[in-house]
Amino acid sequence: MSKYFKFTRRGGPISISLSPNVEKDDVKLALNLIIRPWLWKRGKAINNLEDKFKKYLGVKYAVSFNSGRSAFYAILKALKEVDGLKNGDNVALQAFTCNASINPVLWAGLKPLYIDCNENDFNISAEDLKKKINVKTRAVIVQHTFGLPADMDNIRAICAENNLILIEDCAHSLGAEYNGVKVGSHSKVAFFSFSRDKIISSVYGGMAVTNDPSLADKLRQAQDEFGMPNSLWVLQQLLHPILLYYIILPVYNFLDLGKIFLILSQWLHILSKAVHWKEKRGQRPDYFPKALPNALAVMAINQFEKLGNFNNHRRKITDYYYENLKDTEFILPPKLSSVFLRFTIKHQKAHEIIYKAWHKQNILLGDWYTTPIAPFDTKLEQMHYKIGVCPNAEKLAKMTLNLPTHINISQKDAERIIKFLKKNEN
Ligand SMILES: Cc1ncc(COP(=O)(O)O)c(C=O)c1O
Repeated sequence: MSKYFKFTRRGGPISISLSPNVEKDDVKLALNLIIRPWLWKRGKAINNLEDKFKKYLGVKYAVSFNSGRSAFYAILKALKEVDGLKNGDNVALQAFTCNASINPVLWAGLKPLYIDCNENDFNISAEDLKKKINVKTRAVIVQHTFGLPADMDNIRAICAENNLILIEDCAHSLGAEYNGVKVGSHSKVAFFSFSRDKIISSVYGGMAVTNDPSLADKLRQAQDEFGMPNSLWVLQQLLHPILLYYIILPVYNFLDLGKIFLILSQWLHILSKAVHWKEKRGQRPDYFPKALPNALAVMAINQFEKLGNFNNHRRKITDYYYENLKDTEFILPPKLSSVFLRFTIKHQKAHEIIYKAWHKQNILLGDWYTTPIAPFDTKLEQMHYKIGVCPNAEKLAKMTLNLPTHINISQKDAERIIKFLKKNEN
């Protein structure tokens, strides 16, 4: 019995994914919304969420979309109209990322220019950026990986010297700070994600922010132009927390019933997948780009209100990991972040450890990222990535594993994770 039921507070295994932020109040809200379809698309929550975001970040404009991918695509489209970015221009961005942060560049008719990342903080290498900038490079995307803020002063200086537009990808880093100021306000324009494995989650959702009025106008135009996703898509996202909480997680390991149910419901399109197969080939599924529907804005506001609590919890769990892993074989991330979406550590046998944790202990650790552009079955040629161009990213992909920090990880769960890691460090 105990082999199968490793309950955390909400049921299910200790897991870094499987909708980690969902709590009972989120499930109740989704149930409430599911029986009120007139609230699904239009409503007050969209503006409310945008206003809350503006206030929190201290920026002038915030425009919501149905994903970080759509927000990023809208930003690139707006920059083409306002700043003269042209088809075929290069956008510099780091490897050691996922295809969701490359695809909008391809969809916008631009070309990714792959910059290596630093081995210690997983962020874009200023040194490699300087080396690789060419006459076609027009913009730089800075991804604050796992919540670790990138070296913005240095990168901003390089951008200023080379007349490049600076964009922040804050998909992992809502609430993180650089020099005491929140990330997302250190560049011309930035975007955030509320997808299922992020700091806050409405299953799908995203936000673009800027202080530039003409860019904001174009973003608002893009939001109108994209329109709302269809009702079935909204329903899929509302079902997600409900089915996970009540059906899938409680029996996740019991004869693999939960896992089978999850796969089946995604296959039958009852639930959405995080990444569509088309995206692994650089193609665009038809639910991107779209605006954020009201129902998901309601869900996102509920999570946003809990952001302080979520991030305090992440800090406590992270402190515990730092304290208990300091004299081990694991290489720990620099203490530079106020918010770790995932606590990413390095070990030569990282992949073996992830495998063992799941198969021997029912602990689902994270594998971001096992390839320079994840997930592993993404077609690198279609991403225009050539093996060898970012050696640090390729090396990190072999030796990183992520530990969970989210609200459903209890102190006891963290203790079990540490115990397992210490047993398997050699
Ligand atoms: C670094 C990074 N950028 C952008 C995105 C895109 O965000 P979304 O999933 O909301 O489209 C993601 C997540 O998938 C991400 O991890």
